[in-house]
Amino acid sequence: MNEPISTASIKPLTVNDLAGMKRRGEKISCLTAYDASFSAIIDKAGIDVMLVGDSLGMVIQGHDTTLPVTINDMVYHTRCVSIARQRAFIIADLPFLSYATPVAAAQNAAKLLQQGGAQMVKLEGAHLDCVSFLADRGVPVCGHLGLLPQSINQLGEYKVQGKEQADAEKIIDDAWKLEQAGAQLLVLECVPALLAGQISAQLTIPVIGIGAGVQCDGQVLVLYDMLDIGIAKRPRFSKNFMHETKSVEAAIFAYHQAVKQAQFPAPEHSF
Ligand code: KIV
Repeated sequence: MNEPISTASIKPLTVNDLAGMKRRGEKISCLTAYDASFSAIIDKAGIDVMLVGDSLGMVIQGHDTTLPVTINDMVYHTRCVSIARQRAFIIADLPFLSYATPVAAAQNAAKLLQQGGAQMVKLEGAHLDCVSFLADRGVPVCGHLGLLPQSINQLGEYKVQGKEQADAEKIIDDAWKLEQAGAQLLVLECVPALLAGQISAQLTIPVIGIGAGVQCDGQVLVLYDMLDIGIAKRPRFSKNFMHETKSVEAAIFAYHQAVKQAQFPAPEHSF
């Protein structure tokens, strides 16, 4: 794979395609996206999944946390991304407190799928009632465990999770329960590489890591971090792909190839 893919007459990937990649041992590449221009570039580079993350609250809106992001913000940005994509699978975040009950989760997921054009919604934590409620009604769900940015006011700081045995066991248990509840994908954020590798091997569903080591089934980074254009300090687990390349297109393609070839994350990007 040496060239960015041609997107002429290409259909969007489905959740089955992602499951097939895990079965075949093919790594899944994922980047966050928030607008149509980057969506087109990311899609053309061959990235498998675009995540319209509520990280947009920090990198687009300039807040300190993801908490101010609303469902209307998420719908708007998801629509911008989905308009310009041809192949990549699109996941959209359910923002803070938009899934406080299963019914609220369903109403807000409907907006992301119907108005935004998302194919899957992501929610943070082991909210099994919401996950099964959505899954039972035909909404594909991505879980998110480890560091949960929407819980920053409880956590006090952004730091690696699951280092203690009891915390690691809870993450393993929650991951398994999310799969049982109907989640079809899982994001693991900022957990030790060994733990993430163990969970990826145990689950049937694909596990996408961010700061979770190379053994995950796929990798995601915040676009503005890997292009080094964020206003905040780039986290240790991310990498500046602009450093080695001459253009945004080349940097995104280099990231895609590095993920596919299990060259990213390197040990220095892992815990
Ligand atoms: O909002 C986001 O960008 C995310 C990733 C960090 C996984 O959830």
